[in-house]
Amino acid sequence: MMELQIEELISQEDLEKRIQEMAEELDRVYAGKELRMVGILKGSVYFLCELTKRMKTPVTLDFLSVSSYGNGTSSTGVIHFNKDLDESIEGLDVILVEDIMDTGRTLSFLMDVLQERKPASLKVITLLDKPSRRLVSIEPWMTGFTIPDRFVVGYGLDYAQNYRNLPYIGVIE
Ligand code: IMP
Ligand code: MG
Repeated sequence: MMELQIEELISQEDLEKRIQEMAEELDRVYAGKELRMVGILKGSVYFLCELTKRMKTPVTLDFLSVSSYGNGTSSTGVIHFNKDLDESIEGLDVILVEDIMDTGRTLSFLMDVLQERKPASLKVITLLDKPSRRLVSIEPWMTGFTIPDRFVVGYGLDYAQNYRNLPYIGVIE
């Protein structure tokens, strides 16, 4: 694809420092428990790996994938599963791990669907949050970085499926 200019917004060093703090906070909150961490494919995988490998709390992993229907520029807010969880979450302490919360529609839909499966607890962690774009009333339980309304890539986040493997968060110029 065409080479685009990318300006660094959050360095790899700052990402890793913040993720270390988040891991320590999770260990404090979930001390003595076990956690099911659910990654939302594909954007959350870099964050999920970096976070969980810094945690001491016993963790099991599962993944799901969703798409939102829309006409390209405006999403209709209708979301469907491409891939559901492999395992039941009933009675488990569950954390949904997302790359970025934008309008909030994806996580609001997922919280409703997963809550019906009767987890012991269900919380949302996002690496990035763009609160200025919110259309649905939902807040993450824990956020890595709050960012302005810019389109970002890297550390799992894509532009047309590219740039996920950048080790930092960048803004497309
Ligand atoms: P929401 O339902 O609007 O909160 O959508 C969140 C999803 O939109 C994320 O999981 C990303 O896939 C995508 N997204 C939102 N903002 C960005 C961005 O700045 N860069 C890359 N993907 C984004
Ligand atoms: Mg995504």
